Amino acid sequence: MSDKKLYGPFTQLITMHALPLHGSLKDEELPVTEYGGVLVENGYVTAIGNFDTLKDENPDSKMLLEGKGPLTAIPGLVDCHTHICWAGERSKDYAMRVEGKTYLEIAKSGGGIADTVEATRNASDEELLTGLLERADRLLKIGITVAEVKSGYGLNKEDELRILRVINKANEQTPLELVPTFLGAHIKPKDFIGPHEDYLKILIEEVMPVIKKEELCERADIFVEEGAFDIKMADKYIRSLQDLDMQVTVHADQFHPGGAKLAIRNKCVSADHLENTDAETIEAFANRETVAVALPGASLGLGMQQAPCRKLLDNDACLAIASDWNPGSAPMGDLLTQASILGASEKLSISETLAGVTCRAAFALRMDAGVIHVGSRARIAVFPTDDVRNIFYHQGQLKPIYTIIENDCISHG
Ligand code: NIG
Ligand code: FE
Repeated sequence: MSDKKLYGPFTQLITMHALPLHGSLKDEELPVTEYGGVLVENGYVTAIGNFDTLKDENPDSKMLLEGKGPLTAIPGLVDCHTHICWAGERSKDYAMRVEGKTYLEIAKSGGGIADTVEATRNASDEELLTGLLERADRLLKIGITVAEVKSGYGLNKEDELRILRVINKANEQTPLELVPTFLGAHIKPKDFIGPHEDYLKILIEEVMPVIKKEELCERADIFVEEGAFDIKMADKYIRSLQDLDMQVTVHADQFHPGGAKLAIRNKCVSADHLENTDAETIEAFANRETVAVALPGASLGLGMQQAPCRKLLDNDACLAIASDWNPGSAPMGDLLTQASILGASEKLSISETLAGVTCRAAFALRMDAGVIHVGSRARIAVFPTDDVRNIFYHQGQLKPIYTIIENDCISHG
């Protein structure tokens, strides 16, 4: 039996292939194939085109999805910033915030991230793995096929390594591709006695060698903010990571500007958050390799303004959109809903929002994903609609009915 699978017909097949990585996009630029089909062999896309033509040319292929009604196919979504390996919960933070306490005040009084660190350290590997797999499954149900997952709730050598190992283990057990990122530099943990510089030094000298030896991840992150790490110490840390061939991303400009400029200057792969980025930084993103990542779920969770996405795109930034799913600032974990709301408030075209959660998000991870092209691994989200605009128009309520990942077609019906 041939391993060829022909998916379609799709009323609209949107490949996102060869779209520019930077700047604004008009919907007319979307590469739409009407009545399209995708041929998949051994988990890879081997042909894209008119469904009937592909069917005639490949009589030995297994037909899938024929007669399933109007369908729109887009690349599997890429969530390029999450913190979904955690234990415990933080509804009390949310209650304090809606009563007027700020995120930074809660952190300063010893709560916030530190609470999740305590719960995560106390959880077994099994508990962490189960929680992570459950969240990965939720991502899969909204069409996400690649998700970045940060550590950052261990904040000592043993627990940071344990979390990264759990993420790698989960990656073997879920159809999604999970991309681990080392966020040992989330905050200086309460039990570390000594200056921030000493803590970062330990991460480089004691934790990184094990990460390298066990090949636990190729990316690292630092939270640059009041109460976390300042520009000077972050600058040194970023360079040390880059000397170790790590891709570096930065939690930047969430409450105060500065981190994003540092990320751009150091050619980091992305600068994420940007709710309080300034005009000069917006300009500095133009045509740079540092992707500007908006995290609308954090704005919604904290009741804050959104990142200035319209301005970033008009200034030729590469804009990606991610969920930031975490138990503190962004507990919702629904990228489709969040990207739709961001698009409505920042006036993003459908193509800009879609690029933000597919090809441009993949660029933030420096991965070949978020596009459907000949030679790519098959990762496709299929929605029960005849028009791609409906995906965002329904603001997250229209879910995919199938997610194709390599050799599998997972039904969500
Ligand atoms: O991206 N701002 C820093 N880190 C996370 C929140 C982590 C937490 O509150 O648990 C963020 O918003
Ligand atoms: Fe984050």
